Amino acid sequence: MSITYKDEAGIAGMREACRLASEVLDYLSPLIQPGMTTLEIDRLSADYMKKQGTRSATVGYQPPGYPPYPGHVCTSINHVVCHGIPNDRPLKKGDILNVDVTVITQDGWYGDNSRMFLIGGEAAASVQARRLNQVTFEAMWKGIVMVRPGIRLGDIGHAIQTYAEGNGFSVVREFCGHGIGQKFHEEPQVLHYGRPGTLEELRPGMTFTIEPMINAGKRDIKELGDGWTIVTRDRSLSAQWEHTVLVTPTGYDVLTLSAGSPPLPAFVTTTAC
Ligand code: MF3
Ligand code: CO
Ligand code: CO
Repeated sequence: MSITYKDEAGIAGMREACRLASEVLDYLSPLIQPGMTTLEIDRLSADYMKKQGTRSATVGYQPPGYPPYPGHVCTSINHVVCHGIPNDRPLKKGDILNVDVTVITQDGWYGDNSRMFLIGGEAAASVQARRLNQVTFEAMWKGIVMVRPGIRLGDIGHAIQTYAEGNGFSVVREFCGHGIGQKFHEEPQVLHYGRPGTLEELRPGMTFTIEPMINAGKRDIKELGDGWTIVTRDRSLSAQWEHTVLVTPTGYDVLTLSAGSPPLPAFVTTTAC
């Protein structure tokens, strides 16, 4: 497999898929409250995707060596880094939750994005949780604003790593962003760490995700016995934000932005250039 460069029709397909993926998160946002379970979030997501005419890319997803993923979305709480499986444990005030939504449109295009939710609001979160969430969100944007033809993937990874580590946090190495299109995970891998000037050069028409997983403690992780859930080895908090972006002739276009996306960090001057 190699990198796919999207033409006008492909870009239109990706735009639609990504808009719909972000609208699932917009729909969920006001509904996510203390006391509800991640299985309820899963059910709400499934119902909303049905209304949209999309399907979940995650339910039944089974890469080689993995059991089929059971959720319509991934729900990763506190020290869960990613791929948490929706369950019946009620959310508590002060929990931090990532909901990762990937939809497939009727035309077969994939849109992938995730956001963090501070359960019970900002005031319920610890100072560390708020800071981790903020730094992770900004780290994603530090990567996004690098994107333009001619730069290399190592430039993106370096920007994210420098920002996260400069704020005293660590970057998970085992999972990365990815090309996306008419498949869920395409080339290239988009590492969230690296050296400037290394790896693949960006060209217009590439679409990929930037989705840093940042830990409050050490970067080490482990997989739980369910074959999916990834947690921090030291049980420190972990946060993740994800957008799907298009490389344009002059810069980037963030495809998974919608009305409910949070305000941009001050250093971001545009969402499409
Ligand atoms: N949406 C995740 C990503 O950003 C992948 C989830 S795979 C699953 O790449 F099987 F865990 F759902
Ligand atoms: Co995702
Ligand atoms: Co992704």
